[in-house]
Amino acid sequence: MTATTQLLDPSSALDRVLVLEMVRVTEAAAIAASTLVGHGDEKAADAAAVEAMREALNLLPMDGTVVIGEGERDEAPMLFIGEKVGSAQDGGPKIDIALDPLEGTTICAKAGPNSLAVLAIAEAGGLLNAPDVYMDKLAVGPGYPDGIIDLDKSPSENVRAVAAAKGVPASEIIACVLDRPRHEALIAELRQLGCGIMLIPDGDVAGVIATTNPDTTVDIYIGSGGAPEGVLAAAALRCVGGQFKGRLLFRNDDERGRAAKWGVTDLDRQYDLTDLAKGDCIFAATGVTDGSLLAGVKRKAGKMTTESVVMRASSGTVRWVKGEHRLG
Ligand code: FBP
Repeated sequence: MTATTQLLDPSSALDRVLVLEMVRVTEAAAIAASTLVGHGDEKAADAAAVEAMREALNLLPMDGTVVIGEGERDEAPMLFIGEKVGSAQDGGPKIDIALDPLEGTTICAKAGPNSLAVLAIAEAGGLLNAPDVYMDKLAVGPGYPDGIIDLDKSPSENVRAVAAAKGVPASEIIACVLDRPRHEALIAELRQLGCGIMLIPDGDVAGVIATTNPDTTVDIYIGSGGAPEGVLAAAALRCVGGQFKGRLLFRNDDERGRAAKWGVTDLDRQYDLTDLAKGDCIFAATGVTDGSLLAGVKRKAGKMTTESVVMRASSGTVRWVKGEHRLG
């Protein structure tokens, strides 16, 4: 055993030490991206976050593998799928990592709400190797009967089921939906039903997590977004409770081929929370811009402040971490 691995609890690959370390990683990415908030340059903000997150991950005593990252090896210079990260490649705990150093690149470029630096880790094999395709998503927070949401049912049926479980009319339900032309029919159906709709411009990781936070008034998340973001959101719900259903959506044979490459055999499968993130897992996020989950990075009086959350599925512990960092 090396000096670094002695720090770790041998009974669990996801050592308690790593839980808080994850915050350093998302903090580093958020701080780097925050220097470019509102600068109108998505790529530069993303690159800054990626570089900072990679550097921070490489300081951690683990044998980490990126399973959801910035893209495939030939399209992403850093944090590509399959990249090894961590300083203990020879005997450290084997950890799978799903990451999005800047979730909501456009939000960050436009200084809008809910841009985050986010990651989830699990023991090797614990996270679905989701290809970068769309995913149909449905989510509700904790406290509902199992199976209350189902992608094989219509949006109206799902909203009615949630309303009935809450004991309110459907008109009192708020659904969070990404504001996209592809959701025109979904939005029309929900308007017909008479429920409220919170239309978000981007950032469905925060949108899904909003269902778990009574302060947001969001009851259900509905619609399609990135599959990688679906896995990240599912990891968060594994920790705080709630239900999530996801189904990969393929637009062409190339996307189907990519799914096969990552081991997806049943292309129509409806995934549950534990199909996306199984076993113990840790989810961490730091706000880049202010949002429903976290405050963004602020600079004043020679200091930078950050707000982060880190949660663990096995214990259900959720820690809110406020950081103060010296400028420079
Ligand atoms: P990026 O950070 O990659 O820009 O993703 C932002 C996002 O809004 C995600 O939260 C969401 O899952 C996805 O884009 C939706 O994709 P699209 O913009 O193609 O509808």
